[in-house]
Formats: sequence, structure tokens, C-alpha cells
Amino acid sequence: MTKLKNDLFLRACKRKKIERTPIWIMRQAGRYLPEYRAVRKKSDFLTMCKTPELAAEVTIQPIDIIGTDAAIIFSDILIVPEAMGMHLEMHEGKGPIFHHPIRNENDAKDLKIFDPTKELKYVLDAVSLTKKELNSRVPLIGFSGSPWTLLTYMVEGKGSKSFSEIKRLIYNNPKLAHNLLEKLSSIIAIYLSAKIEAGADAVQIFDTWGGILSPNDFEEFSLYYISKIISEIKRKDEPVIVFAKGVHYKTKKLSKCGADVIGLDWTMSLKNVRDEIGKDVALQGNLDPTVLYGPKSKIKDEVINTLKSFGEGSGHIFNLGHGILPDIDPEKAKYLVSCVKEESKKFH
Ligand code: CP3
Repeated sequence: MTKLKNDLFLRACKRKKIERTPIWIMRQAGRYLPEYRAVRKKSDFLTMCKTPELAAEVTIQPIDIIGTDAAIIFSDILIVPEAMGMHLEMHEGKGPIFHHPIRNENDAKDLKIFDPTKELKYVLDAVSLTKKELNSRVPLIGFSGSPWTLLTYMVEGKGSKSFSEIKRLIYNNPKLAHNLLEKLSSIIAIYLSAKIEAGADAVQIFDTWGGILSPNDFEEFSLYYISKIISEIKRKDEPVIVFAKGVHYKTKKLSKCGADVIGLDWTMSLKNVRDEIGKDVALQGNLDPTVLYGPKSKIKDEVINTLKSFGEGSGHIFNLGHGILPDIDPEKAKYLVSCVKEESKKFH
């Protein structure tokens, strides 16, 4: 493997010495960039995901335009349930929709246990192509949804506020829930291993809906499967990042799941979490994404606060506490990146 020109992100994941804090942004390849919207105007979202040339093009855009220290492959977590046979629609403004959600054994019986190296080969091709086109400039991150977050969408059928259907399922039919989580876990472990094999330098597991569970339920329905996947991923030194939104009550347990890095949302304090678990894992995050609505002076203040909260030394990857919002001015994102690059030198 050729050596990366900028490997700050990978070194920070392993808590090795760095000259400054690396930064990437969740959803950095997205609608806030006019260059993304230009590609998106010509193709629908899923076609972009399934066309390696288009996926590679938008993956690299934020590296050229915003200057982040890592690329994340353009794709979506919901292509996994799609490959299991669920018909997926992405609606402008309404988000993803599955018209035939899974509510009982009968709905679940036709779900396919598929081979990601075949059915999701288009993602693996996108990874290899992007890796080639990045030309060793920065590392490339592959990702998957966690089993719990994927099951939430499969059962709700769309975004939700109360999550009534998935909660109904786990309380009335935990056996079916566990059966499906088990199946998703096996697929995801193979899928993430294949992404690494195709060239991903690190992988991130998104547990966006971990935080809707009580602490005990989180352990039973989400964390157990995340740990299982991590133990099964075939990797050499490639870091695993877990972003579990809203699970402030479980950071200690989360730090033992086998991940190299834990991603935090903006409601948590980097300092408190570092004091608790910072000797075991690196931390990623956690600027409130809406700070980018503010003026540059505010962005700078909050960058410094975030850096101070983590403190001196390696083991911090700067990011937002969740994805960048589609109506953010790209100039602000650019400013954020330059500010982190400049201000973080003092912390190393
Ligand atoms: O981070 C990146 O730049 C890589 C690409 C990426 C996308 N989705 C592209 C995308 C990643 C890592 C994801 C993950 C994802 N997808 C998650 C987990 C992270 C999180 O944000 O919590 C979830 C829950 C999804 C499911 C999903 N996909 C939703 C809820 C939506 C609608 C969002 C919205 O605001 O409309 C999507 C669509 C989607 N995925 C878009 C992008 C760029 C927008 C689609 C478009 O261009 O029309």
C-alpha cells in the first residue's frame, strides 16, 4: 500500500503523536455544496450511490473544496435493507421511505440474507475507484449503519418522532427483533471487512438511533451487536469508529466495545468523556452543527472551546456532533476547517 501524504486522521485514531488536530465533517459530501447539487441535478440519489464514478466524484469534492483531512465514501446506510429486498425511495424533503415496513414474522420472511461482496459490489467498486482518484492525499472512511439503526428504519418505514413501531416490536416480539439484528450483524461484518479489503483506511458505524433506547435496552438491542460486528471485522490496523448519538449514559460501556474511536454528539462534554474513558479510546466530535449558522467569530470561539474541552495531546478527531445541515454556507464550512487546522497546533 502506498503511504498517505496526510495521515493525521489515522494517527489521531490510534492516539499517536500529531502536529495538529485532524478534521472531517459528517455528511461532508452533501447538499450544502453547490458542486454536489450540480451532480445531483442530473441523477437521483440512489443512482449516484450505485454509479462508482459519480460516488467517487462527490466523495472527493469536500477534500478539494473544504480541505478536510479524511474522505468518507458517498453512499447511504439504507442500501443494506434495500439489498435485503426492501424497496427504498428517497424523497426530497421527506427523507427515506420503505413502503412495506417489517412489523411481524410474515413481513420478515422474504428478507434476503445476501452477500455484500456481490449485491453491494457497486459500493466496493466506488471505494476502490475513490481510493485511486484520491491518489493517497487523505485516508478514506467506509461506513455502515448499526444493526439497531437499520432495523429502526426497516420497522418504522420512515423517519419517526416517537419510534412507536420499533418499540412495539422489541417489547412484544423481542425474538423477532433479535433474529433480525443477528442477521443484520452478520451482513454488516462482511460488508465492512469488504470495504477495508477494497481500500477503506477506517470504518465508521453510525448508531444514529441508539439514544432512543433506555440504558438497558441500548445494551441489549444495540451495543451487543456493535461489539459483535467489531470482533468479526477482518482488519489489520484500520481503526473502527462508533458514532452513537444520544447515548451519554453509556460512554463507559461504549468504550469497551472494541472501537478505536467513539464519536460524540454536541450534548456531551469532550472533557468529561475524556476524563472517564480517554485512556482507552480516541474521541471524535463534537461541535453543534448549528454553530455554522453563526458568524465566523462565533465559529472560532466554539472551535477553541471544543479544542480546549479535549485538551492537549493526541486522540481527538474534530468533527460536528452530527451531519452538516443542507442550508449551511460552504464558506462557513471552509472557515471551520481552516480554523481547526490553525488553532489546534497549540494543543500538540
Ligand atoms: O457523510 C458523508 O458525506 C457520506 C455520505 C452519507 C450519506 N448518508 C449521504 C446522504 C452518510 C455517511 C450517510 C449516513 C446516513 N444515512 C445516516 C447515519 C448518519 C446520520 O446522519 O445520522 C442515516 C440515518 C441515513 C439515512 C438517510 N439518508 C436520511 C435520513 C436521509 C435524508 C436526509 C435529509 O436531510 O433529507 C438520507 C439521504 C442522504 N444521504 C443525503 C445524503 C447526501 C441527501 C439526499 C439528497 O442528495 O437528496
